[in-house]
Amino acid sequence: MLEQQFIPKACNNLLESGSFTWSSPSNIALVKYWGKREHQIPENPSVSFTLDACKTTTTLSFSKKSNQDEFSFDVFLDGKQQDDFKPKIETFFKRIESYLPFLKDYYFKIETANTFPHSSGIASSASGMSALALCLMSIEKELDSDIPEEFFIQKASFLARLGSGSACRSLKGDLVVWGKHEEIDESSDLFGVKYPFEVHENFKNFHDTILLVDKGEKQVSSTVGHNLMYNHPFAKERFKQAHKNLSELINVFKVGDLKTFINIVESEALTLHAMMMTSMPYFILMKPNTLEIINKIWAFRKETGTHVCFTLDAGANVHVLYPENEAEQVYEFIKNELVAYCQNGHYICDRIGFGAKQL
Ligand code: PMV
Repeated sequence: MLEQQFIPKACNNLLESGSFTWSSPSNIALVKYWGKREHQIPENPSVSFTLDACKTTTTLSFSKKSNQDEFSFDVFLDGKQQDDFKPKIETFFKRIESYLPFLKDYYFKIETANTFPHSSGIASSASGMSALALCLMSIEKELDSDIPEEFFIQKASFLARLGSGSACRSLKGDLVVWGKHEEIDESSDLFGVKYPFEVHENFKNFHDTILLVDKGEKQVSSTVGHNLMYNHPFAKERFKQAHKNLSELINVFKVGDLKTFINIVESEALTLHAMMMTSMPYFILMKPNTLEIINKIWAFRKETGTHVCFTLDAGANVHVLYPENEAEQVYEFIKNELVAYCQNGHYICDRIGFGAKQL
Protein backbone atom coordinates (compact mmCIF):
# COMPACT_ATOMS: atom_id res chain seq x y z
CA MET A 1 0.00 0.00 0.00
CA LEU A 2 1.36 3.41 -0.96
CA GLU A 3 0.77 6.83 0.58
CA GLN A 4 -1.13 7.92 -2.57
CA GLN A 5 -3.86 5.39 -1.88
CA PHE A 6 -4.89 7.45 1.13
CA ILE A 7 -5.61 10.55 -0.98
CA PRO A 8 -9.41 10.64 -1.37
CA LYS A 9 -11.30 11.34 -4.55
CA ALA A 10 -12.54 14.92 -4.99
CA CYS A 11 -15.78 15.66 -3.16
CA ASN A 12 -17.82 18.85 -3.36
CA ASN A 13 -20.82 18.16 -1.16
CA LEU A 14 -19.35 19.17 2.18
CA LEU A 15 -21.39 18.84 5.36
CA GLU A 16 -22.37 22.14 6.99
CA SER A 17 -21.58 21.03 10.53
CA GLY A 18 -21.61 18.07 12.87
CA SER A 19 -19.70 16.28 15.57
CA PHE A 20 -18.16 12.87 16.26
CA THR A 21 -16.83 11.26 19.43
CA TRP A 22 -14.27 8.47 19.69
CA SER A 23 -12.50 6.88 22.61
CA SER A 24 -9.07 5.46 21.88
CA PRO A 25 -6.54 3.65 24.08
CA SER A 26 -2.89 4.02 24.85
CA ASN A 27 -0.51 1.14 24.10
CA ILE A 28 2.69 -0.23 25.54
CA ALA A 29 5.43 -1.43 23.20
CA LEU A 30 7.06 -4.82 23.78
CA VAL A 31 9.53 -4.36 20.92
CA LYS A 32 10.22 -0.63 20.93
CA TYR A 33 10.09 1.93 18.15
CA TRP A 34 13.01 4.31 18.66
CA GLY A 35 14.41 6.07 15.61
CA LYS A 36 12.57 7.27 12.53
CA ARG A 37 13.11 8.53 9.01
CA GLU A 38 11.33 11.38 7.25
CA HIS A 39 7.50 11.32 7.29
CA GLN A 40 7.39 9.31 10.51
CA ILE A 41 8.67 6.11 8.92
CA PRO A 42 10.04 3.86 11.67
CA GLU A 43 13.61 2.59 11.49
CA ASN A 44 12.48 -0.78 12.84
CA PRO A 45 9.26 -2.73 13.37
CA SER A 46 7.57 -2.67 16.80
CA VAL A 47 4.78 -4.57 18.51
CA SER A 48 2.58 -3.44 21.39
CA PHE A 49 -0.15 -4.50 23.77
CA THR A 50 -3.20 -2.31 23.47
CA LEU A 51 -4.28 -1.01 26.88
CA ASP A 52 -7.81 -0.92 28.18
CA ALA A 53 -7.99 1.62 31.02
CA CYS A 54 -5.71 4.40 29.74
CA LYS A 55 -7.85 6.12 27.14
CA THR A 56 -8.56 9.47 25.54
CA THR A 57 -12.07 10.46 24.57
CA THR A 58 -12.29 13.17 21.94
CA THR A 59 -15.29 14.99 20.54
CA LEU A 60 -14.62 16.81 17.30
CA SER A 61 -17.25 19.40 16.37
CA PHE A 62 -16.97 21.06 12.99
CA SER A 63 -18.68 23.89 11.15
CA LYS A 64 -18.06 25.21 7.66
CA LYS A 65 -16.18 28.49 7.43
CA SER A 66 -15.94 30.97 4.55
CA ASN A 67 -12.20 31.55 4.50
CA GLN A 68 -10.09 28.55 3.44
CA ASP A 69 -6.65 30.11 3.89
CA GLU A 70 -5.66 28.48 7.14
CA PHE A 71 -6.50 25.85 9.73
CA SER A 72 -8.88 27.06 12.37
CA PHE A 73 -9.43 25.16 15.62
CA ASP A 74 -9.52 25.34 19.40
CA VAL A 75 -8.53 22.60 21.83
CA PHE A 76 -10.05 21.91 25.24
CA LEU A 77 -8.74 19.46 27.81
CA ASP A 78 -11.26 18.58 30.51
CA GLY A 79 -13.31 21.60 29.46
CA LYS A 80 -10.41 24.07 29.71
CA GLN A 81 -8.99 25.78 26.64
CA GLN A 82 -5.48 24.45 26.03
CA ASP A 83 -3.59 26.70 23.64
CA ASP A 84 -0.27 24.97 24.33
CA PHE A 85 -1.63 21.88 22.48
CA LYS A 86 -2.20 23.93 19.33
CA PRO A 87 1.27 23.84 17.71
CA LYS A 88 1.35 20.01 17.79
CA ILE A 89 -2.12 19.81 16.23
CA GLU A 90 -1.25 22.49 13.64
CA THR A 91 1.79 20.38 12.62
CA PHE A 92 -0.44 17.29 12.51
CA PHE A 93 -2.98 19.07 10.26
CA LYS A 94 -0.20 20.25 7.93
CA ARG A 95 1.12 16.71 7.60
CA ILE A 96 -2.28 15.17 6.86
CA GLU A 97 -3.83 17.95 4.75
CA SER A 98 -3.24 16.19 1.42
CA TYR A 99 -5.01 13.08 2.77
CA LEU A 100 -7.97 15.04 4.19
CA PRO A 101 -8.48 17.96 1.79
CA PHE A 102 -11.48 19.29 3.76
CA LEU A 103 -9.39 20.39 6.76
CA LYS A 104 -9.27 24.09 5.84
CA ASP A 105 -13.00 24.18 5.06
CA TYR A 106 -13.99 23.89 8.71
CA TYR A 107 -13.57 25.44 12.09
CA PHE A 108 -12.95 22.57 14.56
CA LYS A 109 -13.62 22.43 18.26
CA ILE A 110 -11.56 19.59 19.75
CA GLU A 111 -12.74 18.56 23.22
CA THR A 112 -10.62 15.92 24.83
CA ALA A 113 -10.38 14.11 28.17
CA ASN A 114 -8.05 11.38 29.42
CA THR A 115 -8.96 8.61 31.85
CA PHE A 116 -5.50 9.05 33.35
CA PRO A 117 -4.21 12.32 34.81
CA HIS A 118 -2.45 14.56 32.30
CA SER A 119 0.37 15.06 34.79
CA SER A 120 0.91 11.33 35.36
CA GLY A 121 3.96 11.17 33.11
CA ILE A 122 1.96 8.84 30.84
CA ALA A 123 2.13 10.10 27.28
CA SER A 124 -1.32 10.89 25.95
CA SER A 125 -0.08 11.31 22.38
CA ALA A 126 -0.89 7.73 21.28
CA SER A 127 -4.46 7.76 22.60
CA GLY A 128 -4.99 11.46 21.78
CA MET A 129 -3.75 11.37 18.19
CA SER A 130 -5.57 8.13 17.39
CA ALA A 131 -8.86 9.46 18.82
CA LEU A 132 -8.51 12.66 16.75
CA ALA A 133 -7.61 10.69 13.61
CA LEU A 134 -10.74 8.56 14.06
CA CYS A 135 -12.97 11.62 14.45
CA LEU A 136 -11.50 13.05 11.24
CA MET A 137 -12.10 9.73 9.47
CA SER A 138 -15.74 9.85 10.58
CA ILE A 139 -16.06 13.14 8.66
CA GLU A 140 -14.46 11.54 5.60
CA LYS A 141 -16.89 8.64 5.88
CA GLU A 142 -19.82 11.08 5.84
CA LEU A 143 -18.45 12.47 2.58
CA ASP A 144 -17.86 9.02 1.10
CA SER A 145 -20.11 6.40 2.63
CA ASP A 146 -18.53 3.63 0.50
CA ILE A 147 -15.36 3.54 2.62
CA PRO A 148 -14.99 -0.06 3.86
CA GLU A 149 -14.48 -0.70 7.58
CA GLU A 150 -10.98 -2.09 7.06
CA PHE A 151 -9.84 0.94 5.04
CA PHE A 152 -11.38 3.27 7.64
CA ILE A 153 -9.22 1.78 10.41
CA GLN A 154 -6.15 1.53 8.20
CA LYS A 155 -6.36 5.16 7.15
CA ALA A 156 -7.07 6.27 10.74
CA SER A 157 -3.89 4.45 11.75
CA PHE A 158 -2.00 6.01 8.81
CA LEU A 159 -3.14 9.49 9.89
CA ALA A 160 -2.50 8.86 13.60
CA ARG A 161 1.08 7.85 12.72
CA LEU A 162 1.65 11.28 11.25
CA GLY A 163 0.59 12.81 14.59
CA SER A 164 2.68 10.54 16.79
CA GLY A 165 4.32 7.34 15.53
CA SER A 166 3.19 5.00 18.29
CA ALA A 167 -0.41 6.30 17.94
CA CYS A 168 -0.84 4.13 14.82
CA ARG A 169 -0.75 1.07 17.13
CA SER A 170 -3.85 2.23 19.09
CA LEU A 171 -6.69 1.54 16.66
CA LYS A 172 -7.71 -2.09 16.57
CA GLY A 173 -6.56 -5.37 18.07
CA ASP A 174 -4.97 -6.50 21.34
CA LEU A 175 -1.50 -6.94 19.85
CA VAL A 176 -0.51 -4.54 17.10
CA VAL A 177 2.50 -4.52 14.77
CA TRP A 178 3.82 -1.43 13.04
CA GLY A 179 6.79 -1.39 10.68
CA LYS A 180 7.71 -3.77 7.90
CA HIS A 181 8.88 -7.17 9.12
CA GLU A 182 9.79 -9.87 6.63
CA GLU A 183 7.87 -12.65 8.38
CA ILE A 184 4.66 -10.61 8.72
CA ASP A 185 3.27 -10.04 5.23
CA GLU A 186 0.55 -7.62 6.36
CA SER A 187 3.00 -5.37 8.23
CA SER A 188 3.67 -1.88 6.94
CA ASP A 189 5.75 1.17 7.77
CA LEU A 190 2.67 3.29 7.04
CA PHE A 191 0.15 1.98 9.58
CA GLY A 192 -0.34 -0.52 12.39
CA VAL A 193 -1.94 -3.92 11.79
CA LYS A 194 -3.52 -6.39 14.17
CA TYR A 195 -0.93 -9.09 14.93
CA PRO A 196 -1.98 -11.75 12.42
CA PHE A 197 -0.74 -15.03 13.97
CA GLU A 198 -1.75 -17.37 16.74
CA VAL A 199 -1.57 -16.03 20.32
CA HIS A 200 -1.47 -18.49 23.22
CA GLU A 201 -3.92 -18.35 26.16
CA ASN A 202 -1.04 -17.20 28.39
CA PHE A 203 -1.13 -13.79 26.75
CA LYS A 204 -4.90 -13.29 26.94
CA ASN A 205 -6.01 -10.80 29.58
CA PHE A 206 -2.42 -9.85 30.35
CA HIS A 207 -2.09 -7.26 33.11
CA ASP A 208 -0.10 -4.02 33.11
CA THR A 209 0.15 -2.09 36.36
CA ILE A 210 1.76 1.27 35.67
CA LEU A 211 3.83 2.52 38.58
CA LEU A 212 4.05 6.31 38.49
CA VAL A 213 7.58 6.92 39.71
CA ASP A 214 7.89 10.38 38.23
CA LYS A 215 4.84 12.36 37.20
CA GLY A 216 6.78 15.32 35.83
CA GLU A 217 7.04 16.47 32.24
CA LYS A 218 9.12 14.18 30.04
CA GLN A 219 12.83 15.06 30.29
CA VAL A 220 13.34 14.26 26.62
CA SER A 221 10.53 14.73 24.11
CA SER A 222 9.96 11.85 21.66
CA THR A 223 11.01 14.08 18.77
CA VAL A 224 14.35 14.86 20.41
CA GLY A 225 14.71 11.21 21.44
CA HIS A 226 14.13 9.78 17.97
CA ASN A 227 16.59 12.30 16.54
CA LEU A 228 19.27 10.99 18.88
CA MET A 229 19.29 7.81 16.78
CA TYR A 230 20.73 9.69 13.78
CA ASN A 231 24.45 8.97 13.73
CA HIS A 232 24.11 6.95 16.93
CA PRO A 233 27.12 4.57 17.12
CA PHE A 234 24.91 1.56 17.93
CA ALA A 235 21.85 2.41 15.81
CA LYS A 236 22.41 -0.13 13.03
CA GLU A 237 22.77 -3.05 15.42
CA ARG A 238 19.79 -1.87 17.46
CA PHE A 239 17.51 -1.81 14.42
CA LYS A 240 18.67 -5.33 13.47
CA GLN A 241 18.03 -6.51 17.03
CA ALA A 242 14.42 -5.26 16.92
CA HIS A 243 13.77 -7.35 13.78
CA LYS A 244 15.25 -10.39 15.47
CA ASN A 245 13.28 -9.86 18.70
CA LEU A 246 10.02 -9.58 16.80
CA SER A 247 10.88 -12.78 14.89
CA GLU A 248 11.42 -14.59 18.17
CA LEU A 249 8.21 -13.23 19.64
CA ILE A 250 6.20 -14.88 16.86
CA ASN A 251 7.03 -18.28 18.30
CA VAL A 252 6.77 -17.03 21.89
CA PHE A 253 3.20 -15.83 21.27
CA LYS A 254 2.33 -19.12 19.56
CA VAL A 255 3.58 -21.53 22.20
CA GLY A 256 3.01 -19.29 25.25
CA ASP A 257 6.71 -19.20 26.23
CA LEU A 258 6.59 -16.70 29.11
CA LYS A 259 10.28 -17.10 29.98
CA THR A 260 11.50 -15.99 26.57
CA PHE A 261 8.81 -13.29 26.54
CA ILE A 262 10.30 -11.86 29.75
CA ASN A 263 13.85 -11.95 28.36
CA ILE A 264 12.86 -10.12 25.19
CA VAL A 265 10.57 -7.56 26.81
CA GLU A 266 12.97 -6.57 29.61
CA SER A 267 15.91 -6.47 27.22
CA GLU A 268 13.94 -4.20 24.86
CA ALA A 269 13.14 -1.79 27.73
CA LEU A 270 16.75 -1.64 28.88
CA THR A 271 18.01 -1.29 25.31
CA LEU A 272 15.74 1.71 24.77
CA HIS A 273 17.26 3.34 27.84
CA ALA A 274 20.76 2.22 26.84
CA MET A 275 20.31 3.99 23.50
CA MET A 276 19.54 7.20 25.37
CA MET A 277 22.46 6.76 27.74
CA THR A 278 24.86 6.26 24.83
CA SER A 279 23.65 9.03 22.51
CA MET A 280 25.11 12.50 22.26
CA PRO A 281 23.81 14.36 24.18
CA TYR A 282 23.15 11.54 26.66
CA PHE A 283 20.28 11.10 29.13
CA ILE A 284 19.42 8.94 32.10
CA LEU A 285 15.64 8.71 32.26
CA MET A 286 15.39 6.21 35.09
CA LYS A 287 15.14 7.46 38.67
CA PRO A 288 16.54 5.67 41.72
CA ASN A 289 13.05 4.27 42.40
CA THR A 290 12.85 2.83 38.86
CA LEU A 291 15.87 0.68 39.70
CA GLU A 292 14.53 -0.21 43.14
CA ILE A 293 11.37 -1.52 41.48
CA ILE A 294 13.27 -3.48 38.83
CA ASN A 295 15.41 -5.17 41.48
CA LYS A 296 12.35 -6.01 43.59
CA ILE A 297 10.63 -7.54 40.55
CA TRP A 298 13.69 -9.69 39.81
CA ALA A 299 13.94 -10.87 43.43
CA PHE A 300 10.20 -11.67 43.61
CA ARG A 301 10.31 -13.57 40.33
CA LYS A 302 13.25 -15.66 41.49
CA GLU A 303 11.63 -16.39 44.85
CA THR A 304 8.15 -17.28 43.55
CA GLY A 305 8.73 -18.61 40.02
CA THR A 306 5.99 -16.28 38.76
CA HIS A 307 6.22 -14.61 35.36
CA VAL A 308 6.07 -10.96 36.32
CA CYS A 309 8.32 -8.64 34.30
CA PHE A 310 8.71 -4.95 33.52
CA THR A 311 8.91 -2.66 30.59
CA LEU A 312 9.66 1.06 30.37
CA ASP A 313 8.71 3.97 28.16
CA ALA A 314 11.04 6.87 27.53
CA GLY A 315 10.73 7.90 31.18
CA ALA A 316 11.02 6.73 34.79
CA ASN A 317 7.63 5.03 35.18
CA VAL A 318 7.55 1.22 35.27
CA HIS A 319 4.98 -0.96 33.51
CA VAL A 320 4.65 -4.21 35.48
CA LEU A 321 3.42 -6.98 33.17
CA TYR A 322 1.98 -10.29 34.39
CA PRO A 323 -0.34 -13.06 33.19
CA GLU A 324 -3.94 -13.43 34.30
CA ASN A 325 -3.44 -16.71 36.19
CA GLU A 326 -0.82 -15.11 38.48
CA ALA A 327 -2.63 -11.81 38.85
CA GLU A 328 -3.74 -12.21 42.46
CA GLN A 329 -0.30 -13.09 43.80
CA VAL A 330 1.52 -10.45 41.76
CA TYR A 331 -0.97 -7.72 42.59
CA GLU A 332 -0.50 -8.38 46.32
CA PHE A 333 3.26 -8.04 45.79
CA ILE A 334 2.79 -4.77 43.89
CA LYS A 335 0.62 -3.30 46.65
CA ASN A 336 2.85 -4.50 49.48
CA GLU A 337 6.27 -3.88 48.01
CA LEU A 338 6.26 -1.65 44.96
CA VAL A 339 3.69 1.07 45.51
CA ALA A 340 5.95 2.62 48.16
CA TYR A 341 8.32 3.64 45.33
CA CYS A 342 5.61 5.51 43.40
CA GLN A 343 5.26 9.27 43.62
CA ASN A 344 2.46 9.89 46.15
CA GLY A 345 1.75 6.14 46.02
CA HIS A 346 0.09 6.55 42.60
CA TYR A 347 -0.31 3.71 40.13
CA ILE A 348 -2.77 2.64 37.42
CA CYS A 349 -4.15 -0.86 36.98
CA ASP A 350 -4.52 -1.68 33.33
CA ARG A 351 -4.77 -4.78 31.18
CA ILE A 352 -4.79 -5.69 27.56
CA GLY A 353 -7.62 -4.10 25.56
CA PHE A 354 -8.96 -4.32 22.03
CA GLY A 355 -8.86 -0.86 20.51
CA ALA A 356 -10.91 2.24 19.88
CA LYS A 357 -14.68 2.75 20.04
CA GLN A 358 -17.06 5.28 18.59
CA LEU A 359 -19.30 6.79 21.26
O1 PMV B 1 5.17 7.83 19.29
P1 PMV B 1 6.34 8.57 19.80
O2 PMV B 1 7.02 9.38 18.73
O3 PMV B 1 5.99 9.38 21.02
O4 PMV B 1 7.46 7.50 20.26
C1 PMV B 1 7.22 6.57 21.25
C2 PMV B 1 8.41 5.76 21.53
C3 PMV B 1 8.33 4.79 22.70
O5 PMV B 1 7.15 4.96 23.43
C4 PMV B 1 9.50 5.02 23.62
C5 PMV B 1 8.41 3.35 22.19
C6 PMV B 1 7.20 2.82 21.48
O6 PMV B 1 7.38 1.99 20.59
O7 PMV B 1 6.07 3.17 21.86
